Amino acid sequence: MIEVNKLYNANSIELMKSVDTDSIDLILSDIPYGICYDKWDIIHNNKNNALLGKSEAQMKAGSIFRMRGKPLNGWSEDDKKIPAEYYSWCNSWVKDWLRVLKPGASSFVFAGRRMAHRCICAFEDNGFIFKDMIAWNKEKAAHRAQRISCVFERRNDDKNVIKWNGWKVGNLRPVFEPILWFMKPYKIGGTLADNVIENDVGAWDETVFDRYNQLPNNLISMSAESINSGLHPTQKPLTLMKLLIELTTKENQLVCDPFMGSGTALIGALQLGRSFIGIEKEQEYYKTALRRLEKECDVGKFLFSH
Ligand SMILES: C[S@@+](CC[C@H](N)C(=O)[O-])C[C@H]1O[C@@H](n2cnc3c(N)ncnc32)[C@H](O)[C@@H]1O
Repeated sequence: MIEVNKLYNANSIELMKSVDTDSIDLILSDIPYGICYDKWDIIHNNKNNALLGKSEAQMKAGSIFRMRGKPLNGWSEDDKKIPAEYYSWCNSWVKDWLRVLKPGASSFVFAGRRMAHRCICAFEDNGFIFKDMIAWNKEKAAHRAQRISCVFERRNDDKNVIKWNGWKVGNLRPVFEPILWFMKPYKIGGTLADNVIENDVGAWDETVFDRYNQLPNNLISMSAESINSGLHPTQKPLTLMKLLIELTTKENQLVCDPFMGSGTALIGALQLGRSFIGIEKEQEYYKTALRRLEKECDVGKFLFSH
């Protein structure tokens, strides 16, 4: 049986099956986006050469982009299967998330803009209510979108260099990330107010926004640079995690992150006096999360998994 206030170096798709039904107050997780950002983010069987760092351009590119395909895939049947494979992957674990949450409890899921719709469908198809989508405005973001005139310059095609001046291929600067907000349905025939009394979850605390210098709406502006960065390639700001925890839980309630990476959500839970369960399958990140939590915690309150 899973213990509370403990981190696990395990595959969460398996381990979540041992978590008690109706026991968790919030699942807050930055799940793999399925965009080949890193090895752990490859959620498909596509073996095309252009993917997985085999193309000439990718070999020259920095380590992150070496993993990825073209900015927008879709030129072969295998590429077209990637989103459906991502949906199937979400489908393989979301049923257990629904089971372990208390009725009316929330789940916040960081999901990439290009695959978020597949994640939403998997949650809905397994019984979750899709409550809202929060936009996290990162304010700044790295951006690579090639000027198409560069190609024509290399070809000495002056006519098209002039004609296409200012035009780019690729995406717009990605300054926002969606945070999907799901809710486990509560008792049929009851009201949400009844559920809040029965299960202590289901409502959200408006006063939180003031404490984090935000307006009480679904756009949260928080610089990604406010992170103690460098511990994980997709590390999220601790302050953002704390806002989401405080928005939907009270002290001593239980927060779970099944894809914890360097453990940012769990640090937030610990600092706010919530209990936690964290799971990470890569040993390197698991150890980073352990180190971070060890630094934070009182000896005796926090148990280690070896
Ligand atoms: C997007 S990252 C989370 C980063 C985290 N928010 C942070 O601030 O460090 C997702 C993590 O999920 C882990 N992961 C992927 N599949 C997993 C699985 N089946 N079980 C547990 N962890 C998994 C990856 O290794 C990766 O570290």
